[in-house]
Amino acid sequence: MDWHMVWNDTKDQLDLLDQRFLPTREDWYACTDTDSTIFALQVMVIRGAPAIGVTAAYGCYLAAKEAAPAGDNWKQKLDELLIKLEDARPTAVNLRWGVRRMRAAWDEQLELDNAGLRAMWLELAKEIHEEDKRFCRKLGEIGGTVINDGDTVMTHCNAGALATSDYGTALGVIRGAWDAGKKKINVIANETRPFLQGARLTSWELMKDGIPVKVACDNACALLMKKGLVDKVVVGADRIAANGDAANKIGTMGVAILAKHFGVPFYVAAPLSTIDRETPTGDDIPIEDRTPREVTHVGETQIVPDGVEVYNLAFDPTPNELIAGIITEEGILEPPYAESIPAAFARSGK
Ligand code: MRU
Repeated sequence: MDWHMVWNDTKDQLDLLDQRFLPTREDWYACTDTDSTIFALQVMVIRGAPAIGVTAAYGCYLAAKEAAPAGDNWKQKLDELLIKLEDARPTAVNLRWGVRRMRAAWDEQLELDNAGLRAMWLELAKEIHEEDKRFCRKLGEIGGTVINDGDTVMTHCNAGALATSDYGTALGVIRGAWDAGKKKINVIANETRPFLQGARLTSWELMKDGIPVKVACDNACALLMKKGLVDKVVVGADRIAANGDAANKIGTMGVAILAKHFGVPFYVAAPLSTIDRETPTGDDIPIEDRTPREVTHVGETQIVPDGVEVYNLAFDPTPNELIAGIITEEGILEPPYAESIPAAFARSGK
C-alpha cells in the first residue's frame, strides 16, 4: 500500500490520501508549496514518523521552487522556509532528519543554481521515498521472526503503511510474519485516543490486507493482558533516544508498563532514521502539545463542558528497561541499547 503518498510529476505536487477522514472518506490533499506541506503535517493529513520524513524531503523541493522568484535572494528565502518546515512538528525526529539530509546534499553542491538544486532534490526525495519502502520490508522480514503463528499481537496508534511509504514498521513486523506463512496471527489495535489512529487507520489497513484485527478501547489493555489474550506487543516510535528510551503515541508507556506486569514481551519497531543519538534520554525528547479540540470533541460532537481545560500531550517516552528489543532494518537491537544502537549505526555505515 504505497499509493497513499504519491509524487505527481505532471502537477509537480505531492498527493496525499487525507488521513483525517479515513476510514469513511478517501479524500486527497495536494502539497504544492511550503505552507500546504506544513499544514498537512500539522493537522495530520499525513502522520507517522517515517511518512513525515519522506514528506519533509518533498517539502524541501517544494520550498526550493517557492524560493526561485526571490532572484538573487533565493538561498536566504529557502533557508527561512526550511527552518519553518523543520519546526512543523516537534517529536518525530524523522522530520528534522529529512530536512537535514536534503540540506547535507545541498551543502555538497553549493554551486548549484535554483533549477539545478530542484532537479537534484527531487531525485533525492524520490530516493528517500523508495529507501523507506525497502527499509520497512527489511524490518518486517527481520521482525516477523519474533511473532509465532497463533500469536495475538497488540499495537498502539498506527505504525503501518499509512505511517510510512509502504508496509509499516510495527505493522511491517506483523505483515512480515503473515507473509512468511503465519496465517493464524490476530491483532488487537488499541483505539488510540484522541486522533483514533488505531480505530480508524490500523484496523482499516489490516482489514484491507485480510489480517484479522479487533479494535479495543485504550482502557481495556490491562484486562486483555490479565486474561492472557495478548502474546506480544509491537509498536512504532517517533524518536528513540541514545539510551533506547522510545517516544511513541500517548498511551504507549502505559501499555509497556502493563506488558511488564503481565509478562508480555514489548517490542519497538523503527528504522535507524528514528533513532536520535543527539538526544540522550527519553526525558530530553520534546513532547508535542496539540490543540485541546482533539480532546474536547469527537468529530463535531463536544464531549467536555465549555471552559474545562484538558491535556493533549501527544507522545510519551517508554523507558528502555521495558523494551524487549528494538527491531530495525539493521537487525533486532537488544539491551543495553547504549551499546547496540552505536553498533547498528556502525554496521549500516551511517
Ligand atoms: O501523531 P502521529 O499519528 O504522527 O503519531 C504516530 C505514532 O506515534 C507512530 O506510532 C510512530 O510515528 C511510528 S510510525 C511508523
